[in-house]
Amino acid sequence: MQSKMLGVGSYVPEYRLTNAELERLVETSDEWIVQRTGIHERRIAKGKRTADMALAAAQQALADAGVAPEEIDLILVSTVTPDSLTPTVACRVQAALGAKNAAALDFNAACSGFVYAVEMADSYIRSGKKKRVLVISAERLHSVIDYTDRTTCVLFGDGAGAAVFAPSGDGSGVLSTYSMADGTMGDALYIGALPVEDDPFGASRPTVTDTRYLTMAGNDVFRFTATAVPAAIDKALEQVGKTADEVDWFVLHQANQRIIKMVAKKYGLDERKIYINMDRFGNTSSASVPLCLAEMKQKGLLHEGQLILLAGFGGGLTYGSALIRL
Ligand code: COA
Repeated sequence: MQSKMLGVGSYVPEYRLTNAELERLVETSDEWIVQRTGIHERRIAKGKRTADMALAAAQQALADAGVAPEEIDLILVSTVTPDSLTPTVACRVQAALGAKNAAALDFNAACSGFVYAVEMADSYIRSGKKKRVLVISAERLHSVIDYTDRTTCVLFGDGAGAAVFAPSGDGSGVLSTYSMADGTMGDALYIGALPVEDDPFGASRPTVTDTRYLTMAGNDVFRFTATAVPAAIDKALEQVGKTADEVDWFVLHQANQRIIKMVAKKYGLDERKIYINMDRFGNTSSASVPLCLAEMKQKGLLHEGQLILLAGFGGGLTYGSALIRL
């Protein structure tokens, strides 16, 4: 049986990093940032860890779903910025929630993390292996951003989003999903992790900070999105014989307003059908799609029977989509 999204939640830190403040850090301008990206400000998690943001979003999603922590049997966390490799963010959240009947794991599909997680949650539920899956996407991107690099520091922000999935039973819920990667373009968006050492016992061990910061070949990634995003959208629609004009809302990864415009033009869509909050939160990697969903729900924009298309794309490079009947 397919799965249904029972509830959503989100958390964004209080601190607002505005374009005006970035003008003081690097050689940039509000005009350039707004024209080239559509971003006005982003949130920065001062004194909060990824797990703190993940927990706050998860608590809101559980309350929205009316599901108790003990009823959850799997916690999936997508993140490129875990607080530690072990314990995972998922295990920290499991402990803090008291979700004592849940398995828990982190995974990394970069900015496609939420849509990958929807596919995983749906597959676990369809197979009957799990019944209630808590999906969380939490990103503390400021820790991998070099605030002297104007090509990246204006883009990214921190935040978390979450959703609870359970068996549907009434034909609504996750209708189709798609996930794909093109690792041949992986270096176009790079964040280092453990250093590679030719001689682990040698005199000059490289430091982790050598490869700590995110670097991006923005134009290459932009070109990739021109084929990856329509491919993801088409694959989700084709599987169930739907067309773009039947979709009530498109919720795309919030990377750049120009990508939204490109999608609207390609499918002849009214841009108002594509939800946007990157103006206020920037690119929060995998958190961006559930952040949108939680905000849309709070604003009363989501109604039973609507068709929602989610699409993610980014580091890996990865891309994917999910078509959901509310
Ligand atoms: N302020 C002012 N100028 C800047 C700047 C900034 N913050 N960042 C770059 N520039 C300059 C560049 O140095 C370049 O100057 P030059 O022509 O003198 O060399 C010029 O602006 C144009 O740079 P370019 O990289 O071509 O800009 P762009 O229009 O492609 O925009 C991105 C850059 C990153 C916004 C855009 O490529 C993008 O959104 N890429 C896709 C990102 C994405 O989808 N990521 C998804 C996964 S996270």
